[in-house]
Amino acid sequence: MSQPSKYRTHHCGRLNTCHIGQRVLLCGWVHRIRDKGFITWIELRDFYGIVQLVFDQERTAKKTYKEIKYLNREDVIQIEGMVLKRESANRSIPSGEVEVLVETISLLNKSSPPPFTIEKQTDGGPELRMQYRYLDIRRQPIRDNLVFRHQLVQSIREFLWKNEYLEIETPFLIKSTPEGARDFIVSSYMNKGQHYALPQSPQTLKQLLMIGGIDKYFQIVKCFRDEDLRADRQPEFTQLDCELSFASQHEIMEQFERLLGHLLEKFTDYRLRPFQRLTYDQAINNYGTDKPDLRFGMKLADFTQLTRSSGFAVFDSQETVAGFSVQNGSGTSRKTIDEWTRWIKRPQIGAKGLVWVSQDLNGEFRSSVSKFFGLRDFSAWFEKAQGSKGDLLLMISGRKNDVYYQLGKLRIEIANHLQLIDPNLFVPLWVTDFPLFEWDDQENKYSPMHHPFTAPMEKDLSYLQNDPLKVRAQSYDLVLNGNEIGGGSVRILDAGLQLKILNLLNFTESDAQDRFGFLLDALKYGAPPHGGIAWGIDRLAAVLKGKESIRDFIAFPKNNRARDLMMGAPSALTAKQLKELQ
Ligand code: AMO
Repeated sequence: MSQPSKYRTHHCGRLNTCHIGQRVLLCGWVHRIRDKGFITWIELRDFYGIVQLVFDQERTAKKTYKEIKYLNREDVIQIEGMVLKRESANRSIPSGEVEVLVETISLLNKSSPPPFTIEKQTDGGPELRMQYRYLDIRRQPIRDNLVFRHQLVQSIREFLWKNEYLEIETPFLIKSTPEGARDFIVSSYMNKGQHYALPQSPQTLKQLLMIGGIDKYFQIVKCFRDEDLRADRQPEFTQLDCELSFASQHEIMEQFERLLGHLLEKFTDYRLRPFQRLTYDQAINNYGTDKPDLRFGMKLADFTQLTRSSGFAVFDSQETVAGFSVQNGSGTSRKTIDEWTRWIKRPQIGAKGLVWVSQDLNGEFRSSVSKFFGLRDFSAWFEKAQGSKGDLLLMISGRKNDVYYQLGKLRIEIANHLQLIDPNLFVPLWVTDFPLFEWDDQENKYSPMHHPFTAPMEKDLSYLQNDPLKVRAQSYDLVLNGNEIGGGSVRILDAGLQLKILNLLNFTESDAQDRFGFLLDALKYGAPPHGGIAWGIDRLAAVLKGKESIRDFIAFPKNNRARDLMMGAPSALTAKQLKELQ
């Protein structure tokens, strides 16, 4: 039998009416103190929650009563006392029907005054909380997020174990695996002047596992990418990384649809039904993004043909005119439309302006372009955008890609502004048929839309030589509520084709051999057809909890300059270290 704990018999947050009349030994942090002179209440907090301690001059020993005068928030104490029914229950906490009348108290450790209040709602700003992250983790919302993440990962593991996926670790000190970001580099003391790269993902390694005869692999693994950060990105983040042999694109998607469906059913009110599917072109043309949020409507419509040769230069001079209709938006004030116009003209979005047409409930049109267009035009536009009486049509002109990007952003901004998004709704979808390459204007070269190991669609192989942008990939993204949760692909099997793709991506034959020779070599030794997917675990946790930022689901996150404010990393090396590493 295990020894009773020296520290405690019960957990604070787990005491309830079953324990009334029992003597308990508890430990925790002083959460709040309410001193009424003759009676003092202290809320005692441990990992499991809060319980109220009571000290009164009649029932508590004098010595004990004196000691509490010196207590402060966050001091660590141990108490012994009797569980009593509370006269006025606190329904907001599970232990709220009881309190503990304290007999003895001991101070286990003093705390300095915390730099912010350790409560659900804190007065600490994000940077201060990051600097004292260990104190932030004491707060219930952060602790709940970490518990949730644990449950999520546990459910994923259980599902994959049941389905015979083997959990295998791959190394962190490797040669670069490109996923579109810069590598973090680690210098080697043993091999002076030489460096490892930290994996942007275990992509090549998991392919080598398939070549090694492993049938189904998974790993919950840290990935490292030195790239611009946003709310949904961290320089080190966790992937659920998977790879399967002898499985078609259809089979891979089916298995991971089952996994996400299972998680959605377990952690949300979602009821299982087949996920929607859109091709990349459909996603862009209808929603202006390859990760559309389908919890609300406002599909985009193209008005280019309907607006041609009107004499309105803003439309006539541009490649594309497109927009969408806002349901019941005809009453939107000019002030709000002006706000949206300013929003869309911000440099990050980059539109030149916003044209609007509203149709009131009597069918009367008003518009910012009524000088150039009339009733017939407006009716045709509304029909194209599937708008009707009472709606507001918003339109943008410009270069096609820009217009769709801008409208995609505006669609979300307006949905948020008008509170059209039900936070309890979860709409997962697959996006497929991505282009294999995109053109990188800045670098003036092709870059892979997914990564260089993604197989082209067989039927598009003939475009590879002369029209690479036309080639579609055997890849797929998993999208949930407007967030890219995961992405994957069927892999290139043939070393010759792999080399050709690397050549198209500007790797000379010797560069390709130097960086990926191990993979090109391995592909020659009977590689099985294989493919896989990786999900962002931090992102999935945040989306399932309806939160934008992934930081609060990571125990020790970095800020948006990739800095760890608590440890002060990154930092300079000492002269001695630099010398050793040459
Ligand atoms: P990809 O690069 O699409 O694919 O990454 C997979 C998923 O990882 C998450 N993710 C991130 N999460 C937080 N911070 C970041 N900086 C970050 N970058 C990516 C996203 C994304 O969908 N090797 C391929 C997978 C494969 O082909 O099997 C890969 O890494 O949710």
